[in-house]
Amino acid sequence: MVTGREALCYNMKMKKIIGIWAEDRKGLIGSNNKLPWHLPAELKHFKESTMGQAILSGRKTFESMGKRALPGRVNIVLTRDRDYQAENVVILHDKAEVLSWYKQQDKSLFITGGAEIFRLFEDKLDGLVRTIVDGEFKGDTWFPVDFDFDKFSLVDSSLFHADEKNPYDFEIFTYQRLSN
Ligand SMILES: NC(=O)c1ccc[n+]([C@@H]2O[C@H](COP(=O)([O-])OP(=O)(O)OC[C@H]3O[C@@H](n4cnc5c(N)ncnc54)[C@H](OP(=O)(O)O)[C@@H]3O)[C@@H](O)[C@H]2O)c1
Repeated sequence: MVTGREALCYNMKMKKIIGIWAEDRKGLIGSNNKLPWHLPAELKHFKESTMGQAILSGRKTFESMGKRALPGRVNIVLTRDRDYQAENVVILHDKAEVLSWYKQQDKSLFITGGAEIFRLFEDKLDGLVRTIVDGEFKGDTWFPVDFDFDKFSLVDSSLFHADEKNPYDFEIFTYQRLSN
């Protein structure tokens, strides 16, 4: 299940920086350093979308996933801690370092959150892969409320219905940045 991937066209010649996340109806993305829901089909979509590419997460998100690199992808973690260590990840310390890493290689870079990292890279995103989960949850971390979606155009959407393993409907929206 991959949605809108063709539209974003992230092959070696057309690498892009893409924000990818899931939010609830009110923009909630996290609760106590975890996802507020359990939706295996949405995780499968994340895996298929990012496989073979590079993913960037903030140190808190990385630790929320058990401080483990996701297989089949270049995992980059952003932290201000110069002594930070983790296995099988590229550890970078500021936005400029990330952009310089991105320039010298051929993979697309998925910005995978959390909120601090989406805010930091908003101006660099070529595309967005946004899941809206059809529910309202309790939590403590929201996608940036002032994110400017007007700078992007919607190019694809797909609705997934709840089933026995996935208790909520969710819809995946793919956007491309409008050219200036
Ligand atoms: N629903 C989703 O799709 C989704 C996706 C991702 C995350 N989440 C959720 O979001 C929550 C975490 O988000 P968050 O905003 O609290 O944290 P975060 O963005 O994951 O990580 C924040 C950390 O990133 C590092 N950082 C931030 N800006 C930096 C900069 N300019 N230079 C260097 N390092 C920088 C800092 O690490 P140091 O403190 O080590 O310096 C900072 O504490 C969790 O609940 C997680 O489950 C949800």
